[in-house]
Amino acid sequence: MFSSIRVKYSLILSSAKLVKRNYKGNHNAVELTKDRYKIKRNNYSVINDKDISFFENQIGKSYVVTNSDDIEGNNIDFLRSCRGNSQLLLKPKNEIEISQILKYCYSRNLAVCPQGGNTGLVGGSVPVFDEIIISLQRLNEIYSVDEITGIITCGSGCILENLENEAKNHGLRFPLDLGAKSTCQIGGNASTNAGGLRVIRYGSLHGSILGIETVLASGNILDLMSNFKKDNTGYHLKHLFIGCEGTLGIITKVAVLCPAISSSINVAFIALPSFEAVLKTFVKAKKYLGEILSACELIDEISFKRSVETFNLNPPISGYPFYMLIETSGSNNKHDEEKFNIFLNNGMENGEILDGTFTGEPGKISEIWKIRELVPVSLIEDGYCFKYDISLPLRDFYKIVLVMRERMKNFDVDVCGYGHIGDSNLHLNVACKGFSQDIYRKIEPFVFEYTSKLKGSVSAEHGIGFLKTKYLPFSKSDEAINLMRNIKTMLDPKNILNPYKVLPQE
Ligand code: FAD
Ligand code: MLT
Ligand code: ZN
Repeated sequence: MFSSIRVKYSLILSSAKLVKRNYKGNHNAVELTKDRYKIKRNNYSVINDKDISFFENQIGKSYVVTNSDDIEGNNIDFLRSCRGNSQLLLKPKNEIEISQILKYCYSRNLAVCPQGGNTGLVGGSVPVFDEIIISLQRLNEIYSVDEITGIITCGSGCILENLENEAKNHGLRFPLDLGAKSTCQIGGNASTNAGGLRVIRYGSLHGSILGIETVLASGNILDLMSNFKKDNTGYHLKHLFIGCEGTLGIITKVAVLCPAISSSINVAFIALPSFEAVLKTFVKAKKYLGEILSACELIDEISFKRSVETFNLNPPISGYPFYMLIETSGSNNKHDEEKFNIFLNNGMENGEILDGTFTGEPGKISEIWKIRELVPVSLIEDGYCFKYDISLPLRDFYKIVLVMRERMKNFDVDVCGYGHIGDSNLHLNVACKGFSQDIYRKIEPFVFEYTSKLKGSVSAEHGIGFLKTKYLPFSKSDEAINLMRNIKTMLDPKNILNPYKVLPQE
């Protein structure tokens, strides 16, 4: 029985909440994007006092921020990879105010950068030059929770964790969950088509978001709100805004379909001797756990160590090359445990699973999840991290980590891999003391060329943002990129919405 290797443990973890990084007085540590990446400013207007007065009249003086110290945190991204120089942060309260702002910006040729929780990992959420930052944080109202249909309707500035809790209060499970939940907003999630930890079970936001309201560059409000899963009335326009990273419109409302909460949730955290054993275990998880499988995550040795050591965790097992976190969500605990036991015992008998722990206790489950969720934060805690979020065929999934380790052997870096193996999505990370052009050039474009040769995707879930625009052609044909440009020009002819993002500079 697998339970015989159940390890008694008690993890005393620091809160998984993402600590908002404090940039005050430290902004010089992050180079300006325009200098680091040698970008030329487009020919936009520059804000003047008249513009500020206009915005103050429209949305109220206290929501128009011009003090550079107060804007600093909004100019720098979570990874400290990009830093803009915006002089103006606007905090509108609803779609009407956003519409007025955009109408004005459109007429004045002023560029804007929509910003949610600023947890994005590709530099999309911060300005490149002096774009006006439009924060969505005040659109944080939950309008309705329908327990019959399972639909939650809310403002785009709602924090993901608040939505998860609200869903739970109504017997629902929010279909999206990710490590940045305490800070990221549903509008940011929608506009990046965030993946996260349970895509294997609940699919992507393209499926879960039933309706969306967006303000276009012209200031027109496009109401695509819907409470129905089925609606084949012509082109499916909402999908253009899901994943557009703020370049086609500013999302102001969403309707999200949530499944019923599962009464039985179990998690196993297991150790494996090799990547081959990881693949075999994944195949068996699908076979034995089938319809109750709700997460299947991989953590390699270095990722594990970074998370555990940085946050002083007390993990149930340690000292192995690979770990997997496997979660099931079902409705019959006896039945689910039985399935899990068969799966785990089979893996142990065949030598694919070396050790592990299995639990259905909510407290322990969340302690185990923290080991996985804190990996990204641990990699940037006292330095810098080059992050790659790629889709790769499973057979070749982990090879790139080894290739990269060899390639980077003369640098003082930690190369590690973790991620959503259940979705063929690897997070390849190169953690180092600080940003260095030498390291940067050694990794890029190599990593994208490698990915492209395997017909993978250069962005599985974080998006293209600013950091990957030049690499879009590695995953999209010229024809596809031209069509994207045409759509962008049609919806935003002056290119004022989040410029320098997603599409490669011409
Ligand atoms: P921001 O970072 O503020 O913005 C992201 C992009 O969306 C920008 O281009 C911005 O302009 C645009 N945008 C934001 N709000 C709006 C809006 N209302 N309308 C139009 N455009 C808008 N991502 C994953 O996919 N899966 C993960 O598992 C995952 N885990 C993470 C874990 C950690 C610890 C961290 C720090 C990040 C993680 N991310 C993950 C990345 C990030 O959290 C997601 O991309 C998230 O969806 C961004 O939401 P946000 O509100 O912070 O958006
Ligand atoms: C994750 O899965 O943890 C996120 O996508 C963040 C990351 O890639 O580090
Ligand atoms: Zn991820």
